[in-house]
Amino acid sequence: MKVRKAVIPAAGLGTRFLPGTKALAKEMFPIIDKPTIQFIVEEAKKSGIEDILVVTGKGKRPIEDHFDSVPELEQNLKEKGKDDLLELVQQTTDINLYFIRQSHPRGLGDAVLMAKDFVGDEPFVVMLGDDVMDDKVPLTKQLIDRYEDTHASTLAVMKVPHEEVNKYGVIDPISEPKSGLFDVKQFVEKPDVDKAPSDLAIIGRYLLTPEIFEMLETQAPGAGNEIQLTDAIDRLNKIQRVFAHEFKGDRYDVGYKFGYLKTSIQYGLTHPEVKDELKAYIKEIASQLD
Ligand code: G1P
Repeated sequence: MKVRKAVIPAAGLGTRFLPGTKALAKEMFPIIDKPTIQFIVEEAKKSGIEDILVVTGKGKRPIEDHFDSVPELEQNLKEKGKDDLLELVQQTTDINLYFIRQSHPRGLGDAVLMAKDFVGDEPFVVMLGDDVMDDKVPLTKQLIDRYEDTHASTLAVMKVPHEEVNKYGVIDPISEPKSGLFDVKQFVEKPDVDKAPSDLAIIGRYLLTPEIFEMLETQAPGAGNEIQLTDAIDRLNKIQRVFAHEFKGDRYDVGYKFGYLKTSIQYGLTHPEVKDELKAYIKEIASQLD
């Protein structure tokens, strides 16, 4: 069955970015000129996804507005002959987006469970907004290609520094991967650094079969007393195979301050309007730093 649907959980409170997130959803923080969630939606589009459900919470209305048309602005740009800007504004409306509100966030697993009716009986992808991915073939497309071969749930993983494994879901691989695909013994959410089964962390892209919802409906709270998607996936792996696909591209974590800053710099270095000035500026200040 073709993978057509994606779920983007975006109900988090953004406490790591306070006070910036008091009135503005963190998904709307721009990297130069583009809200972080737009990078995720663009990856979905490039991967052939047709319908996206965004699981939102309080204060997330600007996300809906961002992907809606703005007739007055569009008219104004048209009259002034600013066709390139008009195209930028209109591009964001070219996708079917659906929204559901999660009134009491109880963890990632719980947010994904809100997508049960939207997904129905199809395989689907979950895309986390804090992870911006860059590769020749979009990571979501890589997972879809894997699914077309295996018809099994597949998560994206990446090697991370050992001392950081406690920030992630981590896999216990059964053996060396076969062409980048691991069989997995166990999926563990946020293990202690000295107990982690590997340094292969789950990064924010999951291709899941609909059976995940049966697991989520009965999932007890885990790490941080939250309903963890990783725990439900570990149980799914006991009844159907769940693979891990190693991502070799670039991953930018915009979910914490320094990651957000790094992503802005990296994107700035490729952005036609600012890249030359930014390069010169970095060189200038680098020579003055001790
Ligand atoms: C979530 C998942 C975790 C995953 C991580 C990737 O954690 O629970 O398994 O490794 O995203 O970014 P969070 O960052 O929401 O704590």
